[in-house]
Amino acid sequence: MSKNLLITGGAGFIGSHVVRLFVNKYSSYNIFNLDSLTYAGNLENLKDVEDKENYHFIKADINDEKVIDGLFQEYQFDSVIHLAAESHVDRSIKDPLAFVKTNIIGTLNLLNAFKKLWNNNFEGKRFYHVSTDEVYGTLGKSGLFTETTSYSPNSPYSASKASSDHFVRAYGETYKLPYVITNCSNNYGQNQFPEKLIPLFINNIINNKPLPVYGDGNYTRDWLYVVDHARAIDLVFHEGENEETYNIGGFNEWKNIDLVKLLCRQMDEKLGRERGSSEKLITYVKDRPGHDLRYAIDANKINKELGWEPSVTFEQGLSITIDWYLNNQEWLNHVTSGEYQLYYKKQYQ
Ligand code: NAD
Ligand code: DAU
Repeated sequence: MSKNLLITGGAGFIGSHVVRLFVNKYSSYNIFNLDSLTYAGNLENLKDVEDKENYHFIKADINDEKVIDGLFQEYQFDSVIHLAAESHVDRSIKDPLAFVKTNIIGTLNLLNAFKKLWNNNFEGKRFYHVSTDEVYGTLGKSGLFTETTSYSPNSPYSASKASSDHFVRAYGETYKLPYVITNCSNNYGQNQFPEKLIPLFINNIINNKPLPVYGDGNYTRDWLYVVDHARAIDLVFHEGENEETYNIGGFNEWKNIDLVKLLCRQMDEKLGRERGSSEKLITYVKDRPGHDLRYAIDANKINKELGWEPSVTFEQGLSITIDWYLNNQEWLNHVTSGEYQLYYKKQYQ
């Protein structure tokens, strides 16, 4: 479908898996990874594909309207997979404006540049917006998020993602811009920045540091292995319908405290520590303000219409993930030096 494909946020966690999959699978595409390399962006994530002929890196900020417009004119991107975002809920609670800028204004800059370039002929073009299940707000003890669940975001992060989803849809209605949106549940896997639950706890277990469980730990998330998310993005990009939304999830709900205990057990085994030693590090700390109780995705639409399903169980995916962090401690040490130490102190002191 596409020859000049722009992937934004490709140096981040999910973006790097998407870039890798596309670069390896679609040798005829020109793949442009645009990323401003914030604290969460890391070109070390893409070492294995950086020399491929169909891969190009552009360091740019999606908040810079002129630069973005100029890049669209220069490279004639005919499709976009937009992942660049501020992505961490805790940071959004401390600095909401940064999320408004990148997640809303940045998305608008991309939409405007895409519209300006192709307004007279959207045939064969596609704007793919990668979003989150957090836009739906929180579930009670039962029920699942479907594509028709109404939006009810509770954090500055999810409010900014919800707003960007609305703009994408509005550009579809108003200007006939061809778009598709996916709303995915919690991802885990290799290269995730250790501010998120799983890599933060893996890093702390390695270093024998406390595991800060928010509140009573009875919050529930639906976890998906990042490579399976990238596979879903590939499928929706190529076979999804325009103006459609697809929910992506792992059919895999875990209460935080149960997940943390599973992680502790796997870590004890892999580190050759006495069973139960990592669990002793669990420390209940002050809750996250506005903490959503439960997310769970009904992924039947993408399953039935496009034939997607997760390829690994949670136990398998978690084991692969832990092994990766244990074998890549240099990566962990790089990203946890400097700014990370300040962030950690502020967040957990
Ligand atoms: P991440 O924080 O790991 O990576 C974000 C990337 O965007 C980084 O490389 C960063 O440098 C880049 N970026 C940030 N601001 C930018 C700007 N102004 N200009 C250019 N680049 C910028 O995020 P992630 O977890 O990989 O999430 C990627 C996308 O997927 C986000 O849109 C997020 O909302 C969505 N999502 C994430 C999850 C999850 O569990 N992590 C689940 C569902 C949806
Ligand atoms: O649901 C999709 C979303 O998943 C994505 O849109 C976000 O980008 C991504 O960050 C993630 O959001 P969460 O807030 O659910 O993820 P996080 O890893 O921050 O937290 C997972 C759960 O663990 C949540 O209930 C909060 C809790 N938690 C988190 C941290 C960092 C703790 O108990 N202690 C912690 O130190």
